[in-house]
Amino acid sequence: MSVETISEEELRKSLDMKKLPKHIAIIMDGNGRWADRRNLPRVDGHKAGIDSVQEVVKVCGELGIQVLTLYAFSAENWRRPTLEINALMKLLLDQLHEQTPDLNEKNVRVNVIGDTDRLPRKVTYELQRSIDITKNNTGLILNLALSYGGRQEILRATKSIASEVESGKLKFCDINENVFARYLYTSEFPDPDIIIRTSGELRISNFLLWQCAYSEFYITDVLWPDFRKKHLLLALISYQRRKRRFGGI
Ligand code: FPP
Repeated sequence: MSVETISEEELRKSLDMKKLPKHIAIIMDGNGRWADRRNLPRVDGHKAGIDSVQEVVKVCGELGIQVLTLYAFSAENWRRPTLEINALMKLLLDQLHEQTPDLNEKNVRVNVIGDTDRLPRKVTYELQRSIDITKNNTGLILNLALSYGGRQEILRATKSIASEVESGKLKFCDINENVFARYLYTSEFPDPDIIIRTSGELRISNFLLWQCAYSEFYITDVLWPDFRKKHLLLALISYQRRKRRFGGI
């Protein structure tokens, strides 16, 4: 199936509403290349990516998806030039400020995972405001991965567990996969059923390393600023055609 030749309506009809994933996670990649191809500054690629974020959030809400995790800023993205980091933080700040009333109206709950202590104070303030305003909403959980790294998350969980074993709050023999998962940022969410990566790169880039054990991967060459409803529906149809065996037969 190709996006160009098929209509949104046809795609929507091919979707089995009873077999939708509970948790969709997206590595939004290709903003820089999108801008390069147009001889624009990289930041313009990030700005253009906002439209894709808004569309994907809207569609996930309408479909009744439980959790949408967006990899918006990785722990390693702090290595980018200060100018780009500042522009990304400003975008985030403005988006949180502008979009929170609309997200709230759409019954979306905002959540964040990652080392938020590293974020600028203004961003953490706006994030907390958005989380507080939307905390009682019962629709889509928009989970923003910010200053997030999978290895860092696993290390953080391990340290918390070690400290609780040391203080006697947790018994060594009681540590198992379920207990471990309770110490991750994502403790309240199911593991992602599908991880979508745009721009064709075939890697996980330190994203949800523990949680992706049995996720279905969907890689598309489409650059993030070009990713639209049709692309998301195609990804979901591909997901629904797979046989998930979780190691069984
Ligand atoms: C990766 O593209 C994208 C990012 C590091 C940032 C993603 C951020 C946004 C889409 C905007 C803000 C998000 C929200 C949730 C409001 P890249 O720069 O690595 O692209 P490249 O690989 O082509 O250089």
